[in-house]
Amino acid sequence: MARAKLAVLISGRGSNLQSLIDAAVDAGFPAEVSLVISNRPKAEGLKHATKAGIHQLVIDHKDFQTREDFDDALNDALRATKVDYVCLAGFMRMLTPKFVNDWRGRLINIHPSLLPAFKGLHVHERMIDAGIKIAGCSVHFVSAEVDAGPIIGQAAVPVLPGDDADTLAARILEQEHKLYPACVKLIAENKARLSGAVVPFDSSITAAGALSNPPGV
Ligand code: GRF
Repeated sequence: MARAKLAVLISGRGSNLQSLIDAAVDAGFPAEVSLVISNRPKAEGLKHATKAGIHQLVIDHKDFQTREDFDDALNDALRATKVDYVCLAGFMRMLTPKFVNDWRGRLINIHPSLLPAFKGLHVHERMIDAGIKIAGCSVHFVSAEVDAGPIIGQAAVPVLPGDDADTLAARILEQEHKLYPACVKLIAENKARLSGAVVPFDSSITAAGALSNPPGV
């Protein structure tokens, strides 16, 4: 069966992009990264696309007058490559409600907290300051609000004594790199899909380990 085509949108480091590229090396993985788009010309993550020989584009938001114009350019590029799913991976631009609506159920994001807690920026620092004991990460379908939308999978990560924002971020990132491919696999196999405002719980999701605590936590 043909593999689902992913576009991965980045703004920086691109380690989650790399985790999806790595997962797709396995011919049995049901999706492949067909396009990488960065809104920042100097995003480090572009190097991962170059190394893997993946088609890449820079669509610099500074070249556009309005958010609508920028999103239209994104949309054109995504349609031209005929991608099935759009994965946000550290993409630091707000998307317009129209764009989000056009890609509803096919637009996915990863966030380094157990949503709906700790949406937004400076997440790790805020979690340390709040003294929480269990942190984690979430993969979700995107809705118009920032870091919100139906949750596909989550991984729980302990906060350990002596943690600072950096050590906690590193521990969560390890799980992000497992969770994103696991969730993309479920979506591409049609095992996790949007039904109204939620992704219904399904035994295949539990079996795939994309629930809380995938192996290794
Ligand atoms: C990750 O922590 C992701 O959850 C968040 O932004 C960060 C991106 O990291 N949305 P990278 O660019 O994938 O390394």
